[in-house]
Amino acid sequence: MTQRLGIIGYPIGHSISPVFQQAALDHLGIDATYEKWEVTPEGVGEFVAGLRAPDSLGINITVPHKQAVIPFLDEVDEWATAAGAVNTIVNREGHLSGHNTDGPGFLRALLVETGYDPTGTRALILGAGGAARGILLALVRGGVGSLVIANRTLERAQTLAQLSEDNGVTAEAVSLSGDDLTQAAASADLIVNCTTVGMSHGPDEHGSPLAAAQIPASAIVNDVVYNPMQTPLIREAAAAGATALGGLHMLVYQGVLSFQMWTGQDAPVDVMLAAAMKEMASRGA
Ligand SMILES: NC(=O)c1ccc[n+]([C@@H]2O[C@H](COP(=O)([O-])OP(=O)(O)OC[C@H]3O[C@@H](n4cnc5c(N)ncnc54)[C@H](OP(=O)(O)O)[C@@H]3O)[C@@H](O)[C@H]2O)c1
Repeated sequence: MTQRLGIIGYPIGHSISPVFQQAALDHLGIDATYEKWEVTPEGVGEFVAGLRAPDSLGINITVPHKQAVIPFLDEVDEWATAAGAVNTIVNREGHLSGHNTDGPGFLRALLVETGYDPTGTRALILGAGGAARGILLALVRGGVGSLVIANRTLERAQTLAQLSEDNGVTAEAVSLSGDDLTQAAASADLIVNCTTVGMSHGPDEHGSPLAAAQIPASAIVNDVVYNPMQTPLIREAAAAGATALGGLHMLVYQGVLSFQMWTGQDAPVDVMLAAAMKEMASRGA
């Protein structure tokens, strides 16, 4: 029996997960297909119930359904509970468990690609939306020493700083412009962009939240924006002599961890990364 996998979202047309997940399945000769399904908010419960079928291995979940699926699951793991969001559902003989591989995928991508270990480091998070929240929790769980959260809307940065403090990590909230940001960047070991600044078709697609002069050469800069692959911030980081990593790696590594949960096999990471890069290039990114 051919097994089924896929991703749900609303809309879902942009997702490249089918490309690199199918490449991994084919590479290992696993008899399964990975599709994308557009599911309306009203249809989430019925769709998730259908995942208990014997031919379903599970799914990925993207915006806006990461919270909405939770009431329909039998079990939710520690990462997903902490994040308040599920990006992976696994079906084991009709029992549905919810997981979140976004945070672990972010940490794994940084470790493998740059050698970054959060333990005791100073991190600057730019942005305070959904991605920033998940990444903050991943850094906190990874043992980060201290955090600065910079956001256009200061109150949202303050909410995340409080979340960090509640989890025992010193944190400060600053505005996304001005001296406080420059100072925070100057002493950061890791800078992560979780704003949509620099994203294709976004609100400020040619902008960079930091200029090269504000980025220390010793820093690791991770832009979680993956379209385009070379964002303005990545270019500024390279000009500063810093280590720069784009968002495609995080995207692929969250998929790598999901793949391993569904199949019980080691994912062919290089095959998945190559397929993702080829797809982005074919889309002109
Ligand atoms: N690589 C991956 O695997 C991965 C995973 C998740 C997300 N992402 C990417 O991460 C980015 C953020 O996603 P999200 O889900 O966190 O979005 P979100 O919840 O909508 O948050 C958007 C963030 O961007 C800020 N922002 C928006 N327009 C801005 C502007 N013109 N100037 C300055 N700041 C601005 C917002 O600030 P305010 O609070 O002031 O509005 C907020 O902090 C997206 O590009 C997404 O594709 C990548």
